[in-house]
Amino acid sequence: MKQLIFFFSIICLLVQASVEAARYGELDQWLNEQSHLSFNRLRENISPPGTAPGVVVASPSKSNPDYFYHWVRDAGLVLDVIVNRYKAATDSGLKGHLEGTVWNFVDFSIRNQSTPNPSGGAGEPKFHVDGSAYLGSWGRPQNDGPAIRATTLIHFANNLLSQGKETLVRERLYHSGHSVIKFDLEYVSHNWRNRGFDLWEEVYGHHFYTQMVQRRALIEGGRLAQRLGDTGASQWYFSQAKELEYQLSRYWDPGKGVFVPTIEGGGKDKHSGLDSAIVLALHHGSLNDGFIPYTDDRVLSTVAHQEKEFFQKYPINRDGNPGIAIGRYPEDRYDGYSSNGEGNPWVLCTAAFAEFYYRLARNLEQQGKLRFTPLNIPFFRALGVQPKAGQTFVRGDRIFDQILESTIEKGDHFLLRIRRHADVGGRLAEQINRHSGFMQGARDLTWSYASLITAIEHRRKW
Ligand code: NOJ
Ligand code: NOJ
Repeated sequence: MKQLIFFFSIICLLVQASVEAARYGELDQWLNEQSHLSFNRLRENISPPGTAPGVVVASPSKSNPDYFYHWVRDAGLVLDVIVNRYKAATDSGLKGHLEGTVWNFVDFSIRNQSTPNPSGGAGEPKFHVDGSAYLGSWGRPQNDGPAIRATTLIHFANNLLSQGKETLVRERLYHSGHSVIKFDLEYVSHNWRNRGFDLWEEVYGHHFYTQMVQRRALIEGGRLAQRLGDTGASQWYFSQAKELEYQLSRYWDPGKGVFVPTIEGGGKDKHSGLDSAIVLALHHGSLNDGFIPYTDDRVLSTVAHQEKEFFQKYPINRDGNPGIAIGRYPEDRYDGYSSNGEGNPWVLCTAAFAEFYYRLARNLEQQGKLRFTPLNIPFFRALGVQPKAGQTFVRGDRIFDQILESTIEKGDHFLLRIRRHADVGGRLAEQINRHSGFMQGARDLTWSYASLITAIEHRRKW
């Protein structure tokens, strides 16, 4: 009898292992295909017919909702994907093509910067696809946009410099005339103290997301300025980045145990203080320089609270399948068509959580050490670990390695969740209906594709 039980459990283990292997084997394959499809769809939304060269439409959808505009934030994030592919391209045809796309974006951005607009500066959130200013009422300014645009173009400039193309950089990206990069850095460094609208275009105030991406632009900009001998500017950018660091510490709410998205703002019910913009802020704003790292207890606590809330909020999360679908914030009422509906999970927020786990695992590994504290224990408990406050583990400990593995595996669960709800042909809209799981809101949202691509790229680093 004992022997029988023994053999039976061995067989169970084998079956379990092969089910896992099949699932993840398949996941790898899906991710390869999906990454390819996403990149093609993303490129289709850059300068589509009827738009000026360099335009990135937020979505091809022209009505219900009308997203056929160039949003500075979305476009900057999407172009960063293009710049990364340009850097990695080995095929000269593709490389040349991608470079052309970036130059078109540079020219269109200069046009945006020089077009008089209702914000009166670089914080104008969106433009018509012919480059003219959008004059309707809108949440403006949105001061994350110019910071993101600058960061993307700084990455491009750095790569050109590493190819020895300094003259080109000095002629077209960074100089004393209307320099596309400096224009934004000047705007950010002189305006970050002013309030504006958040990345979700709804709340007026100071925002963690905005200030994180501003800090990054100023530091990367300061380094570029230094490299090009623009010493005074470089010191100025660094000094403003330092002040932003102090500001950023103010978003920690010890009572709630989370980083809150907004301070000195309001006008919207966001009493929970939970917002996936915090995770996006790390992806788009962190420099791996020790400032609010992924491993920060406050970050882990924030993520644990958010997951718990979104899990409970959205019925699809309790369908028995792995992966929590994540929304913008629990009180959200924008359903993709109107602002008095029922909020849903978003593809780009769910992909951002996948990316969070891959980047966290990488950071943990680099750090080589993990200490459980009352603040991070709920996070690790949700990961399936049985932590005790005060315990410390270092690289090489079995538990440390297991934690790394579970971290990566949990990242995969978010991607499995997206796979489950993606439309035929891997099409991704903005949202996932919280009851039915069907795609909802703007179809083929460019940022959805970009977010999945960057999540997959960070997974590949493993
Ligand atoms: C309201 C949404 O909440 C906001 O995020 C969106 O940008 C606008 N509507 C426009 O679609
Ligand atoms: C609404 C989102 O809230 C905002 O972040 C985005 O820029 C626009 N839609 C366009 O995609």
